[in-house]
Amino acid sequence: MSKGRILVTGGLGYIGAHTAVELLAKGYDVVLADNLSNTRKEVLEGIEAVSGQRPTWWNVDIADPSATRAALSEQHFDGIIHFAAYKAVGESVAEPLKYYQNNLTSLVNLLAYVQSHPSCGFIFSSSCTVYGQADDLPITEAAPIKPAESPYGNTKQIGEEVIKETAQAKGLKTIALRYFNPIGAHHSASIGELPLGVPQNLVPFITQSAAGLRGPLQIFGQDYPTADGTAVRDYIHVVDLALAHIVALERLMDNAQEAPMEVFNLGTGKGSTVLEVIQAFERATGQKLAWSYAPRRAGDVVAAYADTTRATQVLGWTAQKSLDEAMRDAWAWQLAIGAPEKEA
Ligand code: UFG
Repeated sequence: MSKGRILVTGGLGYIGAHTAVELLAKGYDVVLADNLSNTRKEVLEGIEAVSGQRPTWWNVDIADPSATRAALSEQHFDGIIHFAAYKAVGESVAEPLKYYQNNLTSLVNLLAYVQSHPSCGFIFSSSCTVYGQADDLPITEAAPIKPAESPYGNTKQIGEEVIKETAQAKGLKTIALRYFNPIGAHHSASIGELPLGVPQNLVPFITQSAAGLRGPLQIFGQDYPTADGTAVRDYIHVVDLALAHIVALERLMDNAQEAPMEVFNLGTGKGSTVLEVIQAFERATGQKLAWSYAPRRAGDVVAAYADTTRATQVLGWTAQKSLDEAMRDAWAWQLAIGAPEKEA
């Protein structure tokens, strides 16, 4: 018997697909909503290859109010995990309205459903970007929210406020999960990240560079006040991240939440420099990576890593997988997909 019926928006995206696989493995009935705006429908085959089951897929634009209303009317869901959003920081600076329109409208459309079905738990993809450069490390959930560096970051901050106000007013069950840096892929190499065009994020650039699809990695900044001068992040394996969503969802389904909107950091608690990530990649894969130093990238913070105490104590969840394992899985995925089909 199904443990519950869960809607995963952005379910064919990077984190969404990994979460769908873990939900299916635990016996949930899963519906994916994805309009393929930044992924491909072949991801469904990958999910099926891992799970032995093919979830229902709705090709619907959640930012379209009438399409969303039509898709959700008469439907029962025990939970919604909302991943569908635009996420490119640089593009959001060039096209702010595209980000506000898509990321906020989709959220409002889903909350309209939850408001009329308040037993449905709601999990939101937030980001450590809400902390900006935190004054204290590691970063706890109590750290102040800093002015957003980009419209993308602002959609996460505003999104959390919209959820909190609505959840308080209407007695909803919601959790915002603030991700640090998700990396890696499913160990089967059947699903992983599908960056379109030149990867902006570190790990997909590393794997494409090592595969000969890109030139040498440019390390953005060598004079940060860190152990080796390169910036520090908290890199978390995407499968660990996916599992945290299910634990959070089950907390809501069990009515165990202590506030209408709860917030949790999802990271490993360990900071790694860019040079340490490169070393982990070379160690885990036996590949050699060519790189050179370049100027700092605008908007980058010096260091960010999570205090994971709250997730451990309250959710009973801790990241299990190492940086080396994430690099090995990212490389296996890169070898499985080869060259990207489309260039931006
Ligand atoms: N980096 C390089 N070279 C590259 C790419 C990245 O040196 O080619 C460095 C960055 O400068 C940074 C680190 O690698 O120090 C990680 O960069 P990513 O782009 O992979 O990740 P970010 O920490 O910049 O991005 C994350 C999330 C975003 C979020 C952002 C906010 O992926 O969603 O934090 O700071 F918006």
